[in-house]
Amino acid sequence: MKTLLPFTLLLLFTTLVCSGYLEYDQDVLVPVDWAHVGRVSPTEELELTFALKQQNVGLLEKTLRLLSDPDSAQYGKYLSLEEVSSLVRPTELTQKFVRQWLQSHGVTNCQTTHTQDFLQCTMTAKVAETLLQGIKFHRFIRDGHSVVRSSSPYSVHETVLEHLDFVGGVHRFPPRGLDLSKTSSNGKHKNSMAWLHLGVTPAILRARYNLTAADVGSVQNNSQAVAQFLEQYYHPADLAEFMSMFGRSFQHLSKVDQVVGTQGAGKAGMEASLDVEYIMSTGANISTWVFTNPGRHESQEPFLQWMVLLSNMSNLPWVHTISYGDDEDSLSTAYMMRINTEFMKAGVRGISLLFASGDSGAGCRHLTKEANSFRPSFPASSPYVTTVGGTSFKNPFKVSYEVTDYISGGGFSNVFKMPEYQASAVNGYLKSVAASLPPQTYFNTTGRAYPDMAALSDNYWVVTNRVPIPWVSGTSASTPVVGGMLSLINDRRLLKGLPVLGFLNPRLYKLKGQALFDVTEGCHLSCLDEQVQGKGFCAAPSWDPVTGWGTPNYPALLAVLLEK
Ligand SMILES: *[C@@H]1O[C@H](CO)[C@@H](O)[C@H](O)[C@H]1NC(C)=O
Ligand SMILES: *[C@@H]1O[C@H](CO)[C@@H](O)[C@H](O)[C@H]1NC(C)=O
Ligand SMILES: *[C@@H]1O[C@H](CO)[C@@H](O)[C@H](O)[C@H]1NC(C)=O
Ligand SMILES: *[C@@H]1O[C@H](CO)[C@@H](O)[C@H](O)[C@H]1NC(C)=O
Ligand SMILES: *[C@@H]1O[C@H](CO)[C@@H](O)[C@H](O)[C@H]1NC(C)=O
Repeated sequence: MKTLLPFTLLLLFTTLVCSGYLEYDQDVLVPVDWAHVGRVSPTEELELTFALKQQNVGLLEKTLRLLSDPDSAQYGKYLSLEEVSSLVRPTELTQKFVRQWLQSHGVTNCQTTHTQDFLQCTMTAKVAETLLQGIKFHRFIRDGHSVVRSSSPYSVHETVLEHLDFVGGVHRFPPRGLDLSKTSSNGKHKNSMAWLHLGVTPAILRARYNLTAADVGSVQNNSQAVAQFLEQYYHPADLAEFMSMFGRSFQHLSKVDQVVGTQGAGKAGMEASLDVEYIMSTGANISTWVFTNPGRHESQEPFLQWMVLLSNMSNLPWVHTISYGDDEDSLSTAYMMRINTEFMKAGVRGISLLFASGDSGAGCRHLTKEANSFRPSFPASSPYVTTVGGTSFKNPFKVSYEVTDYISGGGFSNVFKMPEYQASAVNGYLKSVAASLPPQTYFNTTGRAYPDMAALSDNYWVVTNRVPIPWVSGTSASTPVVGGMLSLINDRRLLKGLPVLGFLNPRLYKLKGQALFDVTEGCHLSCLDEQVQGKGFCAAPSWDPVTGWGTPNYPALLAVLLEK
């Protein structure tokens, strides 16, 4: 039959029909807070990131499971970047094919990573629009920050499909920071300002989590990092002032050791100040790095850019805390799957990645006029990161026990299956609270459930632009607090000649809550509709999808995590 087709018809067929979408389920709508500026001129230069299909992803996953399982003989036998590279590097065929495809369009200005699974190439808008069929680049602006994106989807020639996971720099907009100002927006604390509450400071955290003056870092080459993707900078002078105000009771550093990326000179951001000030308060006296990436080019995706960097640096801090999140349903499955693989690549190297669980409780997605569901957030929902939720003091004026902070992000992924390590904990929760669970149409009991643990997330003091600000709240506060404590444990492990903690979850879930303060009171927020009336999940004894296993009792956690 085929041979009977006239040649021209065949050509027509291949050019018109044989193309496909890598990210068919990516949300391409422009978020309402970005204003349209205009069409990008055809001669303007853009940078696109091509995620090449990797090899041995299954083996990578299996390796991560072994290296992070304390009962495995392989526990802690981490791989070097070189070894990760030889595991996942795309086939010669894939590398050659993608390069030739790019070259055939005149694209030659490309940089690759150590692992050769990313290519970042500059080209004109015109070339990009022929390479990726269907896209039209426009410029958008928000708060003086401009990006270049396409609001129509792209397809690529069929032969290219099997060699790429996705192309970065086309659709995803930089997210907004997590909402750190819930207190001023809902007035929860407006009236209590007069009560002279001191709020959460490093001393309060160190008291609650039982850190003594001796619990500071001591190993030369231990390090920790925070990552920033917004147009946000921490200010060295803010950090110094913060430490001189709040750091009297413990040995600490008052300077960041390394800034990777461009540190702008503008106003300091609340988020950036918070992260740095608090990771350096629990992870005191530990060398701290800041990864900052507002997007070097208008077409870059800052979060992806950070992932590419991790894949290209052989020497990295052991612990990274990140307060970035997007709705799962706004991202393509291909993108999330690939980013999840990038998390595995970090995990097998012994790197701990901690993500804030989000500040919208279970979240809410309007499916139809009447029907809603909860709205999981990514990367919080990735099975290969440790996700941190938030709590408040039961008595806000005392170092008392902790209850749910109603904003604490949590729930069940619709994309990632429930990993083995948490199955018994999560199923135990589902069973024990079965009678009071939200309706089954709101969430997916077979998905990865989060968060994994929690810490205080309410009423922090932060110094930003030289001014101490109270009432700062959100899981972007709890995440660096936990990160700093994991760094301290790494410090003690390195002193003992043990490998660092790496990907913590398999070990954390085996503790079954031992060494953590279980949080059992309170519910987080969700859809304001008749069915659930603003209530998501509720904390309960043992693990729950609001505060995970609970908050760290540092000396107890150190003791159990120093065993092997
Ligand atoms: C990765 O690092 C090498 C130097 O080690 C550099 O030449 C290359 O451009 C980097 N790749 C990317 C994508 O930035
Ligand atoms: C840690 O803190 C808790 C609560 O603040 C307290 O009950 C406990 O005795 C402290 N010490 C240890 C070693 O757990
Ligand atoms: C702080 O860390 C340095 C190594 O980076 C170490 O020499 C020093 O003893 C530490 N300070 C304390 C009080 O442990
Ligand atoms: C830290 O120092 C120890 C001893 O000096 C060394 O064996 C180890 O490789 C170093 N680790 C890193 C990450 O540099
Ligand atoms: C529920 O999650 C599983 C993966 O854990 C997924 O395959 C399934 O499509 C999800 N269901 C919905 C309704 O999203």
